[in-house]
Amino acid sequence: MRWEVNWSRLLSLSLLGTSVVQAVDLSRTAQDLFDESMVIQDAIYDPAASYLRYFYFPLAAGPHETRSTIWYAAGLLQRNRGEDRQEAVKILQNVIGDQEKNTSVQWYGDYTKYPEQPTVGTPAYPPVIYNSWDPNWRGFIGTALIVIYEEFGHLLPESVQGLVLESLYNNTIGDTYRVGGVDGDNLYPAYSNAWLMRTVVGSWTGRKFANTNMTAAGDSDALAFLELFNRNNTLSEFNGPTYAGVSLYALTIAAKYLGSTNATIGQHATRVIEAIWGYESQLWNANLRNFAGPWDRSYGYDMNKYVAIMSLWVWSLVGKTHVFPNATSPIWTMAHADDFEIAPLVNILADFHQTLVPAAARARLTSFADDEQRTYTGHAYAPPADLEPRNITTWLSANLTIGTASFNQSVVGGFSEDSTSFSPAVVQWLRPDASIGYFNLYPEETALVAEVAPYALNLTYPLGNTSSTFTFVLASNPLGAKRDITGFEDVDGLSIKVVGGTVDPVPEISFCGLLGGTCDVIHNFEFWNFTFSMPPTSSAVPSVQFEFAF
Ligand SMILES: *[C@@H]1O[C@H](CO)[C@@H](O)[C@H](O)[C@H]1NC(C)=O
Ligand SMILES: *[C@@H]1O[C@H](CO)[C@@H](O)[C@H](O)[C@H]1NC(C)=O
Ligand SMILES: *[C@@H]1O[C@H](CO)[C@@H](O)[C@H](O)[C@H]1NC(C)=O
Ligand SMILES: *[C@@H]1O[C@H](CO)[C@@H](O)[C@H](O)[C@H]1NC(C)=O
Ligand SMILES: *[C@@H]1O[C@H](CO)[C@@H](O)[C@H](O)[C@H]1NC(C)=O
Ligand SMILES: *[C@@H]1O[C@H](CO)[C@@H](O)[C@H](O)[C@H]1NC(C)=O
Ligand SMILES: *[C@@H]1O[C@H](CO)[C@@H](O)[C@H](O)[C@H]1NC(C)=O
Ligand SMILES: *[C@@H]1O[C@H](CO)[C@@H](O)[C@H](O)[C@H]1NC(C)=O
Ligand SMILES: *[C@@H]1O[C@H](CO)[C@@H](O)[C@H](O)[C@H]1NC(C)=O
Ligand SMILES: *[C@@H]1O[C@H](CO)[C@@H](O)[C@H](O)[C@H]1NC(C)=O
Ligand SMILES: *[C@@H]1O[C@H](CO)[C@@H](O)[C@H](O)[C@H]1NC(C)=O
Ligand SMILES: *[C@@H]1O[C@H](CO)[C@@H](O)[C@H](O)[C@H]1NC(C)=O
Repeated sequence: MRWEVNWSRLLSLSLLGTSVVQAVDLSRTAQDLFDESMVIQDAIYDPAASYLRYFYFPLAAGPHETRSTIWYAAGLLQRNRGEDRQEAVKILQNVIGDQEKNTSVQWYGDYTKYPEQPTVGTPAYPPVIYNSWDPNWRGFIGTALIVIYEEFGHLLPESVQGLVLESLYNNTIGDTYRVGGVDGDNLYPAYSNAWLMRTVVGSWTGRKFANTNMTAAGDSDALAFLELFNRNNTLSEFNGPTYAGVSLYALTIAAKYLGSTNATIGQHATRVIEAIWGYESQLWNANLRNFAGPWDRSYGYDMNKYVAIMSLWVWSLVGKTHVFPNATSPIWTMAHADDFEIAPLVNILADFHQTLVPAAARARLTSFADDEQRTYTGHAYAPPADLEPRNITTWLSANLTIGTASFNQSVVGGFSEDSTSFSPAVVQWLRPDASIGYFNLYPEETALVAEVAPYALNLTYPLGNTSSTFTFVLASNPLGAKRDITGFEDVDGLSIKVVGGTVDPVPEISFCGLLGGTCDVIHNFEFWNFTFSMPPTSSAVPSVQFEFAF
């Protein structure tokens, strides 16, 4: 798809002018998040380069980083003190200056991942999607540019306002090159967070340029999203502690800036946000400060120990102490701390966003009654990986949650084919020292039947055979408890018992450690690997059944 832009016509329509608005008012909890994130970002900003230093997981030696710098630019404009505005202008000019300009390449309209990188597509630097270039950077940076333009456009010189729009225009065209299953891309409607960002950028930009090709593409993307969402009011990319936060971010932009237009995504965003908080709040255990499982994509096994973007939304709504334990060390010591750099955008949108969070959902974010138990049941559907919708069942009690998805898929590891982030059976509990234990299935099969009842979990591999194994990721004990785990009897704070199933009930146990052991850490979480095998002569369908007690 190719679209023409007529700049003189655009200028004559005065589309480059924006109305004057003040910095967004921030509630105290959101202001707190903003301030804490800006302390870190101020410290790693390199004014000589006009880029943040590379504070990205895992850390690198020396270079700068692009996406977080745009997030920081939004923070600078929100704060707007001293040199903030001038620095933001330089950042915008630099990042947009390096935006890809060759319309023939797959990454047209995309931004660098870091400004020192060699040119993508040269012999020394082949284009490798999600590595040397990342198609989602159009969505992440494009949405941030929209917020910057809408909220702070009046602080920018007219030429920079124009540059931002031109950048969004190329970004939108480049993003139409993305087709799931083609050229190594996986942008299907079920890839909720990335799909929503494209939907929003296209819908907003098309409107700005009065380009009906773009608005029609945005509307058609929105309908494809809604077709999946409306099945059970769930995101296809279900309950990912990081990516549900990105989907909410994109939807908030749609609700705030397109809500009064006839853009399809703008018309539906409010309802979708309310529905997401409806089920996410049911899955939140305020005692454990975690979303119970299952998680389609997660960057860790305990939200108290890594930075997830949903944690930032919860923080903005109800405050940090409901998200991280009081004894948490500084944010920058946590795994995936780089995701904290999106905090300025969460904050700028927070006061508007909180008006869309139902009161009952918000209440569930702050407390979980000691005598309460609840069971969430629902479905999520992420084709082409899902051959049929997943059935989700999660049981929550004050100090123990068990969350599962039954699935039948075409690949191992869920939609993103990644067993380190797809967690279809998750057990979490509160340990005596108030830290969180976890016991999660590591997916190795394309189908799972999971049954949950209070204190009980049954898992079956309907397509398994005698070589199938059930591998579980078990948390290390906290400091002060046993360092060595030789069986379930050594696990701190929870009794775990195999009570049935066709597996050999005695697991093989190994340690996957930061500095040693016999297997690798996952997302920098070390763990004990409990692997159950079938008896060698068994021809039974593989299954294992557990009961839990305090
Ligand atoms: C919209 O797409 C059509 C068909 O590709 C093309 O002819 C037309 O020029 C495009 N319009 C704009 C405004 O880009
Ligand atoms: C744009 O990319 C195409 C495809 O890689 C290449 O053939 C062409 O030379 C590039 N154009 C410029 C101006 O670099
Ligand atoms: C947008 O793309 C066109 C090529 O279609 C290029 O000439 C222009 O410089 C690009 N603008 C930006 C801001 O990268
Ligand atoms: C989602 O599915 C569950 C379980 O089948 C059902 O109880 C619930 O009513 C459905 N919700 C919506 C909004 O479709
Ligand atoms: C929105 O309004 C425009 C202009 O009236 C129209 O062309 C377009 O089809 C409408 N879009 C939707 C989704 O109704
Ligand atoms: C954590 O700190 C907050 C605010 O300082 C306080 O209200 C709360 O009681 C503390 N919680 C614990 C478990 O110490
Ligand atoms: C949950 O743990 C807390 C803290 O140890 C304890 O006070 C409470 O009684 C426990 N609740 C239940 C239902 O086990
Ligand atoms: C989900 O539940 C329905 C109704 O019980 C069942 O027909 C379907 O096979 C289940 N799907 C999976 C993937 O287990
Ligand atoms: C998975 O879905 C496919 C296609 O609907 C079906 O043929 C197959 O029987 C299902 N497998 C299981 C284990 O449910
Ligand atoms: C697990 O399987 C056993 C044996 O079939 C059954 O008694 C128990 O009710 C099942 N538990 C759940 C949670 O479905
Ligand atoms: C079990 O299933 C796997 C995966 O389908 C297959 O590779 C393996 O050969 C099967 N093993 C036996 C003993 O049938
Ligand atoms: C778990 O341990 C088994 C050996 O018991 C090993 O084959 C497997 O690769 C390990 N899995 C992970 C995720 O570490």
